[in-house]
Amino acid sequence: MPKFIYQFMKKVIPYSVKKFLKAVIFKYKISHLVQVEIRKMRKYAFDMNLKNDIHNLFARLTYHTHAIEKGLSNPYFREGFGQKAIKNLKDAMIEYKNAGYALDEERFLSAFIVLQEYCKVHDGKPKYTLDIYKFLDSFSITPPVLKVGAIEYQKKTIIKKSKSMFSDLALNRISVRDYSQAEVDDSIILNSIGIAIKSPSVCNRQPWRVHLIKNEELLMKILNLHGGFRGNGDNLKKIILVTVDLRYFSNAYERNQGYIDGGIFLISLVYALTCNEIATCILNAMFDIKRENEMRSLLNLEDSEILIGFITIGNYPDKFKSPASLRISPDKCLTIH
Ligand SMILES: Cc1cc2nc3c(=O)[nH]c(=O)nc-3n(C[C@H](O)[C@H](O)[C@H](O)COP(=O)(O)O)c2cc1C
Repeated sequence: MPKFIYQFMKKVIPYSVKKFLKAVIFKYKISHLVQVEIRKMRKYAFDMNLKNDIHNLFARLTYHTHAIEKGLSNPYFREGFGQKAIKNLKDAMIEYKNAGYALDEERFLSAFIVLQEYCKVHDGKPKYTLDIYKFLDSFSITPPVLKVGAIEYQKKTIIKKSKSMFSDLALNRISVRDYSQAEVDDSIILNSIGIAIKSPSVCNRQPWRVHLIKNEELLMKILNLHGGFRGNGDNLKKIILVTVDLRYFSNAYERNQGYIDGGIFLISLVYALTCNEIATCILNAMFDIKRENEMRSLLNLEDSEILIGFITIGNYPDKFKSPASLRISPDKCLTIH
């Protein structure tokens, strides 16, 4: 529809009719968007496709490794625990090896070592260890020393180490939308990712991807397409897009898990950057299909990646203003059952 007709109609149509039309349009749009999500989940989730590519296998390795680690950490040790997880883990390891993937990947090594740990706690009980030892021997590898299995912690140490004030960090973080000229070093970003990667994720599957955009032309294209940062972005030279790979999820029940794991990671990364004295602003990744596809092709994203959010990155100007963004009082979001 030509723009002038659209503008004219916008003016003459009464508010109540506009509201009705909007509701109809969005009812149609949500069905379409959900269909796209269903198609993707069917294609990529590891219990819903028969291909099981490397990321599906990574997810399965970590998933079952994690189940065994939980058993190893359980205060009530149960001899011979986790037979199902062991079988599933072995299946995934065999598929992984047969597909020719590198055996020195952390996720594979974790799987290998967790089985060794399982044998250690069942020392002297060949009923539980013989098959596993035989299985591990078939890979002919000697894994490096990695922290896998159950680790013992002291309450005293944890409390001491977590004492540096999170409340200070959280209460002083604000969205900063314009920056000083000094550029943020990539090493600080990498260090911050290293902190954020300690975020929890479902069964430790770590489905995150971080795209760092610093090519000036690409950055401009992304900001223009995004549109939510107009009027801001002085000296903005780097932005991040956090995505999550759907291949790390298994089935229909996990359809929203990517957004949860992704959101947790995104805010951890923002806090890590803040802790590293970097100014940030989260930008939404809410697009209609056309714009999302344009964004995907600009960044060459894989079809299995879902968009979580952008983070703009810069150094704080000496003085600046930011919206107050008043928060509701905590009791307003608390329901006690
Ligand atoms: C998921 C998400 C999307 C956001 N998108 C935008 C955006 O597109 N443009 C923008 O200027 N700010 C955006 N923000 C920043 C919010 O406006 C800001 O976090 C909120 O007002 C609270 O202010 P504060 O971050 O300064 O505490 C976004 C924040 C979140 C968490």
